[in-house]
Amino acid sequence: MDAQELRRLIALKRDGHAVPAESWKAIVDGYVADTVDEAQLASLLMAVTLNGIDGNETIALTQAMVASGEILHYSKHPVIDKHSSGGVGDTVSLLAVPIAAAAGVHVAKLAGRALGHTGGTIDKLEVLPGVRTDLSPERFIELVETIGCAIASQSAKLVPADRKIYALRDRTATVPSVGLIAASIVSKKIAAGADAIVYDVKVGRGAFMHDLDRAKALAERIVCVTKSFGKPSLVFITDMDEPLGRQIGDGLEVLEAFAILRGEQPLTERLPKLAVRLAQAMIDLAGLSASAKEMVTSGKAFERLEMMLEAQGADLVACRALVPSSVQTTLRAESDGYITSIDPVAVGEAARSLVLKYGSFAGLQWHVAVGDKVRIGDPLLTVYGDEIANQYVSCLTIGVSAPTLRPLIAFELDGR
Ligand code: URA
Ligand code: CA
Repeated sequence: MDAQELRRLIALKRDGHAVPAESWKAIVDGYVADTVDEAQLASLLMAVTLNGIDGNETIALTQAMVASGEILHYSKHPVIDKHSSGGVGDTVSLLAVPIAAAAGVHVAKLAGRALGHTGGTIDKLEVLPGVRTDLSPERFIELVETIGCAIASQSAKLVPADRKIYALRDRTATVPSVGLIAASIVSKKIAAGADAIVYDVKVGRGAFMHDLDRAKALAERIVCVTKSFGKPSLVFITDMDEPLGRQIGDGLEVLEAFAILRGEQPLTERLPKLAVRLAQAMIDLAGLSASAKEMVTSGKAFERLEMMLEAQGADLVACRALVPSSVQTTLRAESDGYITSIDPVAVGEAARSLVLKYGSFAGLQWHVAVGDKVRIGDPLLTVYGDEIANQYVSCLTIGVSAPTLRPLIAFELDGR
């Protein structure tokens, strides 16, 4: 792709037209090979973010991205993957993967690191003593086939185009584009060899898609691109207008996942409820009939999680002994009322900076959720790592009347 031709394509997209399928391939290949000018690609990405790309362009872009690296294959079983578009306190993968695996599903999960205010499954796993996530494709496939599940980080061999383009999008404020997000997410799932996929598209202040119409457009595009590879999917649009779990921060989120799978937390709360629902969708896609909930209550999911962690190098005795930071302080309500909002961006950023400053087991633990009634003196939030609680007061608002509650699952799309 020469500079002249790329300038013509940028102008085409600037004026709202489609870029031909074969040109997407040349652009992606050129960028990965360092022969496409970054300024030109950045400009094209902004034109895409402003004017959009259609379904066929998204498919062409996704195919080009998949072809930039290897594609994994599993000989023995159909493999199911699950992906979230990113949120705060979104520890669903650490729960849904072992739940589905305990039910007999083979789960190959390629996960990412934290982005902006959102958490990343890989960062969470790495707080566990001994755990490795940089698995070779061979080892990853072996674990999926023997233990039933594995969680690995994206390697340089799988979708290198996504790594590189994603970093450029992050720098140029071109992440929130329906077509670009769909291509980025679906390309990773196809390269990791999934036969069917459960997608969790987040909607709300803490998500890339702030309103339901945009989230639905992303969900529909993801289904359309996944289908173009001949793979079925189920998409759930779920609430990210407040943090999903009660504990925010890499280590605290892992401890919350352990507690849920050990049966120490009610399954009616938002995080376990969504994890069980998504695991059930994975079980359904695999054509099995087990109950996801039963996998938690029987302890089988926790057993499977420990098997997976041990196979990935974990020292289980050390893992079981982990506790939150001993430096802690609790913020209490200064008025009676209802919790009307908990800002997921403020919470995600506060937890990340606590972890950076005070270590993996610092962070925030919520004692309340949106809609709860509180009285003066009730505990709202425990801060681990820091000694001054009132600087976190702006993470939430208390009002005089009960807020309208948002549904946990706003919409479901069946892409089978
Ligand atoms: N998650 C991804 O993997 N890619 C995006 O573009 C957005 C969220
Ligand atoms: Ca996440």
